[in-house]
Amino acid sequence: MPVSFDSPTLAINGGTPVRTRPFPSWPVHNDSETDAVAVVAKSGKWWRCAYSADELDTKNTDQIEGRSRVDVFEERFAKAHGAKYAVAVTNGTVALEIALRAAGIRPGDEVITTPYTFIATSLCIMNQLAVPVYTDINPHSYNMDASQIEGLITKRTKAIIPVHFSGNLCDMQTINAIARQHDLVVIEDAAHAHGVELNGSQYAGTLGDMGCFSFQESKNVATGEGGMLLTNDKRYYDMAFSLHHLGRHAGELWYKHFHQGWNARMNEFTAAIGIVQLERLFEQNARRMENSAYLCSALAELPGLEPCRNHPDLTKHSHHLQMLRYDADAAGGMSRDDLIDALNAEGIPCLAGYTFPNYANPFMNSEETQSRYAAASITLPDYAAYTERCPHTERACYSEAIWLEHRLLLGDKSDMDDIIAGFTKLLTK
Ligand SMILES: Cc1ncc(COP(=O)(O)O)c(C=O)c1O
Repeated sequence: MPVSFDSPTLAINGGTPVRTRPFPSWPVHNDSETDAVAVVAKSGKWWRCAYSADELDTKNTDQIEGRSRVDVFEERFAKAHGAKYAVAVTNGTVALEIALRAAGIRPGDEVITTPYTFIATSLCIMNQLAVPVYTDINPHSYNMDASQIEGLITKRTKAIIPVHFSGNLCDMQTINAIARQHDLVVIEDAAHAHGVELNGSQYAGTLGDMGCFSFQESKNVATGEGGMLLTNDKRYYDMAFSLHHLGRHAGELWYKHFHQGWNARMNEFTAAIGIVQLERLFEQNARRMENSAYLCSALAELPGLEPCRNHPDLTKHSHHLQMLRYDADAAGGMSRDDLIDALNAEGIPCLAGYTFPNYANPFMNSEETQSRYAAASITLPDYAAYTERCPHTERACYSEAIWLEHRLLLGDKSDMDDIIAGFTKLLTK
């Protein structure tokens, strides 16, 4: 039984909080980032084109000095994930857009994805005037329910975008098998999945045809803003590189543009920070994994609380988020949102995350959106109908999901014990 929400012992009602010390902050940074940026500033070479912008510079993998930091960051990020090619871009959203265009996605094509994700996953599809089609989520992992994909395939389906939500791997075996059978492109949204490993060998972002990462400030490799596209396919790489570089071709005239591209080039300052952040990634992920295991084994004992289940063959996790499922009825009635408010008052930071699914966003069926599609003679589905089709997503958004940020998992055992104490105070009498 949970303690009564009116109890005077709760910090939200003036009681003593479980914790007043702050948890580790994010991003982690020190003089290494400051020095790396200062070196770029002093060099006067602030964009990759001050070096060679036309092709991947793979001449020297250890040396940084005298080389474009963007080249070096691409090279190191690709190597860390076992990918052949990388294109560094301005953010994760544009990485996804470029991937879709490199894959040949055209207006009216359908792309199957998950509704439990950041809006960028849907926007990248809709910005090509393509049509997002959603599976529900698996209630235990919160990732796309791969068993629903085949039932959604039509002759217009061209791609699948699995999102490794929170850093937990999607069922890529099933997704890739379906994609092969139906000739679909697989673009992984790996915005949460830096350094996430399957079976001790392969990394998220290299399990499909292309993988897209974000380095926005909250991400496990943080540069403020930034993104990266990984692929092992030279044709996708060449096209993505050209698209991010305003459609230029290597060796051709500077003012000659072969594709309708973007200027999505990462700048040298961003890459300089990314190189330093990447050096911390695997040690930080290992710490998060250890703390997550300790935390979750205790939280799973509490009434109404169940940590999301990790992919069984996941060997390195990023734990971009520690995801918890809360069942208010099983816990005695306190709502998810009241529990979150009470936990924050106890000094345990947590949040509800996406409080509605992607398909419930106002623009999805707005007149403005409908008219853009109508101009291309494309009819959008009635996204309101997904409410019925995606009961697990609805429950996660409106009453069940609790998010703990990855920075909390960078603490020590005593930090985990405080989180456990906070939940225990609220969920047991
Ligand atoms: C799942 C997911 N996909 C894509 C993105 C887009 O990344 P960015 O913010 O770098 O554009 C984000 C980041 O916020 C995300 O969480």
